[in-house]
Amino acid sequence: MADSHAKMTQATPQEVIISVVAGLLAPLLAIFLVVQLVLSIQEEHKPDTSSEAAQKATLKRIKPFAQLAALDANAPRVEKAGQEVYDAVCSSCHSTGALGAPKFDSRGDWAGRLGQGYDTLIKHAIEGIRQMPARGGDSDLSDIEVARAVAYMANSAGAKFKEPAAPAPVEPAKPAEPAKAVTAEVKKQ
Ligand code: HEC
Repeated sequence: MADSHAKMTQATPQEVIISVVAGLLAPLLAIFLVVQLVLSIQEEHKPDTSSEAAQKATLKRIKPFAQLAALDANAPRVEKAGQEVYDAVCSSCHSTGALGAPKFDSRGDWAGRLGQGYDTLIKHAIEGIRQMPARGGDSDLSDIEVARAVAYMANSAGAKFKEPAAPAPVEPAKPAEPAKAVTAEVKKQ
């Protein structure tokens, strides 16, 4: 009796190996199947990137980021033209006359203001006046950009201001030179 009991529980080395291998293989097989399933689901949901329309749609979607990435912090600032600044910032009020803003292209709205002179108008646009926010609310605008937008707007209403061309001489070009030397050295290496 004791003998047969011992026989039932005693496994041969082969049996041990088979059960160990089977015990390892079963979960591996399960993992493999799950991975296959996930991959096939992913494949189904893959967007169609081959067609031209799909590529265009992708480009359109990433455009704002692509443009951001292309900004070089060390690149010299390119001052926007008056019209660009006006379209981007000032037009929100000055095209409709919101908050009582003098309207673009309206001689009547601007007649009384132009007499103050270009410099005073620029000063008011930069510092703000009553409902007019400083720099139209965009603190990133440089003085020159604001001045150009003022000229663009005022000229539409009969003024003959000249948009300032070059950056103000307040910022001499000299500080840029050491930076150039550094990049030149880096390039040499
Ligand atoms: C949030 C609305 C708003 C935006 C945006 C705005 N303005 Fe104005 N702006 C006004 C209002 C309102 C006035 C009239 C202020 C007053 O005289 O009471 C005004 C007046 C002015 C005047 C006349 C100031 C004077 O002394 O008579 C200038 C110049 C001007 N804005 C330039 C600009 C420029 C340049 C921009 C864009 C960079 C801009 N504004 C953006 C609302 C705006």
